[in-house]
Amino acid sequence: MILIIDFGSQFNQLIARRVRECRVYCQIEPPSITVEQVRTLAPDGIILSGGPSSIYETDSPKIDAAILKLGIPVLGICYGMQYMVHALGGKVKRSDKREYGFAEFKVKRPSPLFDTLPKTTSCWMSHGDSITRLPAGFAIAGSTANTRIAAIDHRNQKLFGLQFHPEVEHTPQGKRMLKNFLFKVCRCKRNWTMKSFADQTIEEIRTQVGNRRVILGLSGGVDSSVTAVLIHRAIGRNLTCIFVDNGLLRKDEAQKLKKVLKQNLRINIRFVQSRRLFLNALKGVEDPERKRKIIGKIFMDVFESEAQKIKNAEFLAQGTLYPDIIESKSAFGGPTAVIKSHHNVGGLPKKMKLKLIEPLMYLFKDEVRLLGKTLQLPDELIWRQPFPGPGLAIRVVGAITPSRLRILREADDVLMQEIKAAGYYKRLWQSFAVLLPIKSVGVMGDQRTYENILAVRAVTSKDAMTADWARLPHKLLSRIANRIINEVDGVNRVVYDISSKPPSTIEWE
Ligand code: XMP
Repeated sequence: MILIIDFGSQFNQLIARRVRECRVYCQIEPPSITVEQVRTLAPDGIILSGGPSSIYETDSPKIDAAILKLGIPVLGICYGMQYMVHALGGKVKRSDKREYGFAEFKVKRPSPLFDTLPKTTSCWMSHGDSITRLPAGFAIAGSTANTRIAAIDHRNQKLFGLQFHPEVEHTPQGKRMLKNFLFKVCRCKRNWTMKSFADQTIEEIRTQVGNRRVILGLSGGVDSSVTAVLIHRAIGRNLTCIFVDNGLLRKDEAQKLKKVLKQNLRINIRFVQSRRLFLNALKGVEDPERKRKIIGKIFMDVFESEAQKIKNAEFLAQGTLYPDIIESKSAFGGPTAVIKSHHNVGGLPKKMKLKLIEPLMYLFKDEVRLLGKTLQLPDELIWRQPFPGPGLAIRVVGAITPSRLRILREADDVLMQEIKAAGYYKRLWQSFAVLLPIKSVGVMGDQRTYENILAVRAVTSKDAMTADWARLPHKLLSRIANRIINEVDGVNRVVYDISSKPPSTIEWE
């Protein structure tokens, strides 16, 4: 196991990911972790992450320096290295000039970190301060033109430092360096697999929960579904899932979920029919933010009152993913702090005094999909594209009525069929239909029509923070438009959205 201490770098999640890619388990902890806690965790190695601070700032993050003296190998990256040097008696010089971008790195003396590496390689720098004097026992292991002390090591104590970032793609040999640290220095074993993660997590949940009860808000998306299956494996019928039908779901969505999770996997799910409540509250509402607020508030109320019916519930499970946890745990939050706020059940636990269980908190989306596969969830669930909490309410632009929802649902269903049949569903981040509040003139069977316009949106993205419109083949777009106009009553024109994010967003509202 590798312990990563989070000094607030935007690349922390990448470090963890690289370690797991090497099939080694890792855990991220804040700098406040104590020596005793580190001893209990007994990691094979410690990585001190980078961070935006300068060690000269009074509130810059620090760890108990005794952690560096436990005899556990340590790799300090950027700020992590500067902190280590400072804490062990070396000197770091403050500089107003930041070195940012590519640099040519030269290995100066053999070090296990650089085993089997070329003598010269490029690396990616992002720092202001530089080291000017090393603590006793350390030597320079490599330099760049601008940074004489770019890599250091203390052979006997197995302490290493890199001024650049080995975890980013722009340091092509970085993964090799991390591998060398894990396997040549820390002697880690490659035994972390999704299967071992699943087994271990199930065991932990069992121990933590005992025979008490857990509640989970099920959205039908991959994160909450995988969380449900994992907890169900651990505690069976003591898990109760709550699924709120807000009347803003896609065609047959609730039924499909019922079939897979309730009938096939025998998970205990309460389906709460609240369609009326939501649609009544949304009547005549056109403003997107008001729509979101209304939906969020009603969801909370419905969920809470349903949860209160479950006697002796002591835990609330959530499918929080790694990027979310970084945001909340990162002591000195980097750019990850700009994540948008979604409506979810995050506000409930304080009020209801439930303890949180978040078994996916160290995973990325693609790893959650892999976990779903390991748990033998059907592909249909694992590969679902993300769907916003406010559902179709933010895809019926303008006022929401049952008939407009019906038009959108039918059109969206046709679109999905075609996207899937063409093999595009998994390749797209999202693909969906949006019903516009304008009408246009058309001609059908010699008759004039005056009907709705439907927009088709399909985007590629890695994380939804940026996105590009998908270059779908014209033939496919043509088939989609033809079928929608022919099969969906109330639509006589289809347009394709060719905007990217930024400056547009993925959803229209
Ligand atoms: P935007 O429209 O901001 O969307 O580019 C980025 C991603 O977030 C989804 N989204 C939401 N998800 N609750 C959610 O759970 C919401 O209120 C919400 N709004 C947008 C959107 O579908 C896209 O994947």
